[in-house]
Amino acid sequence: MPYRIDTEMSDSYQIIGHNRIDIAETTSTNTLLSQMDQLAPLPDGTVLFAGHQTAGKGQFAKSWFSEPNTNILCSILLKPADFPVQSLFDVNIAITLGIFAVLDQHFPGCVKIKWSNDILVHEKKIAGILIENQIGSQKLSRSVVGIGLNVNQIHFPENLHQATSIRMLTQQEAALSYWQHATLKSINYFYVRMLQGFSPIDKKIYISHLIGLHEWRQWRIADGAFTGMITGVDAQGRLMMKGLDQSLHLWNPGEITII
Ligand code: BTN
Repeated sequence: MPYRIDTEMSDSYQIIGHNRIDIAETTSTNTLLSQMDQLAPLPDGTVLFAGHQTAGKGQFAKSWFSEPNTNILCSILLKPADFPVQSLFDVNIAITLGIFAVLDQHFPGCVKIKWSNDILVHEKKIAGILIENQIGSQKLSRSVVGIGLNVNQIHFPENLHQATSIRMLTQQEAALSYWQHATLKSINYFYVRMLQGFSPIDKKIYISHLIGLHEWRQWRIADGAFTGMITGVDAQGRLMMKGLDQSLHLWNPGEITII
């Protein structure tokens, strides 16, 4: 039975979105926020929302497409003080759980985390995360976390037929501003928990919601297909799997994807 999360119990102070910038259009919010921070340093938790991106970036050098003024397209600047590179995957956990939790409140039991950067509802992708880190002296200097969350888009390109949105799930147009606010609040809750130091329970919550946990599934790897069962995620964020012959495997992001 997966652990449930109640972000309403949080009275934590607001870091994420305390400084908020809204623009109509840019190439990529990740690129722009990073440039803005280089020109004049911005505070931890600054969020940049765009109505439209002309060159949205996805993971592994892919593109991210979204209809204009329809979905959440934002980037969050994180500057946790004195944050060791060994804990980098905690940033991924905080952001992923934040998005997971807000969706789980509306679609309980239907939301899954697809390691390492996607959120699915009914096994269809609703959100993707692109984390771009800058490291200096074994510490995280800053992280730019891009989030694309499908809110009101109902038509997706042919190659994204496994996509869904809030509107597709509810059959109703959703208030973009509500989802922006609720998502930031939820991410803030987990970011504050991360700054205080995640407990083993937080990591168990993350793992308990992974798609493919303790299930035999077919995976795609570089040289073909692989049947494996997720057993966990290690401290570096590598996916831990067991093969049919009981062999143990550790995968880095990009090396394996569920079929
Ligand atoms: C993925 O699933 O491949 C990650 C997608 C991340 C998309 C978001 S949209 C806002 C931010 N700006 C970008 O250029 N990309 C991220």
